Amino acid sequence: MRNKTIIVLTGAGISVESGLATFRDAGGLWCGHRIEDVATPEAFGRDPKRVHEFYNLRRAQLKDAAPNAAHLALAKLAARWQGRFFLITQNVDDLHERAQTLHPPAIGYQLFHMHGELNKARCQASEEIIDWRDDLTVATPCPCCGKPGSLRPHIVWFGEMPLHMEFFAKIFPECDLFMSIGTSGNVYPAAGFVREVRALSRSHTVELNLEPSLVNSLFAEKIYGPAGEIVPRYVERILAGEV
Ligand code: APR
Repeated sequence: MRNKTIIVLTGAGISVESGLATFRDAGGLWCGHRIEDVATPEAFGRDPKRVHEFYNLRRAQLKDAAPNAAHLALAKLAARWQGRFFLITQNVDDLHERAQTLHPPAIGYQLFHMHGELNKARCQASEEIIDWRDDLTVATPCPCCGKPGSLRPHIVWFGEMPLHMEFFAKIFPECDLFMSIGTSGNVYPAAGFVREVRALSRSHTVELNLEPSLVNSLFAEKIYGPAGEIVPRYVERILAGEV
């Protein structure tokens, strides 16, 4: 596997052991909130205060969370891997980035937040993306245009196009190892990546999750358990040349 291309897809399950809720498990975010109230452009148009409050809470929770053993193991892999390593996350938290401060990644590494980032806001007038770690309100003036209410969370809502899709289409044919970690396989296009990788490359495919995802039958290898246990073990196997 040396010098080969690894693509990792992560979802909410990788951040559970850091104290962040998933979306669809019992007690997950979509149990307490309706998607159509807080996670669509229409919801933001109708009731921006409610949408801001939802993401303000997520942003505040993030400040108390820390990367867990699974984030750290991927960061270690990114630091040691001599080929290319693309980490695609559906997560809007910054735990992959924070894990990398301990293990600075090698040159072939790139991280993509396909569903946006909690710690960023976007000006609806100019599309400028701004680092943002505090609460957002309908009265917050935008630093770029000065208009109150112009900033929205930099989150890809239902009905919007995920980010970086054109780039992913270019790298899938080059994939040698595709790992899917902590994602339920409910939400496309991410749930369809394993099918695309299989169609376009000869990649080995592995699912690492607490339980079988909706697309588990598409993976050649499946390992079930908490990410904090199974991901570090799998990473050690990769680094030992056993995968
Ligand atoms: N370790 C590994 N996997 C876990 C753990 C754990 N400790 N705990 C839960 N899981 C698994 C669950 O079994 C589930 O299959 O993580 C998965 C989480 O699934 P979802 O809640 O559906 O999250 P995700 O797949 O990331 O959702 C995709 O949906 O609402 C949107 O934009 C949101 O990015 C999100 C997208």
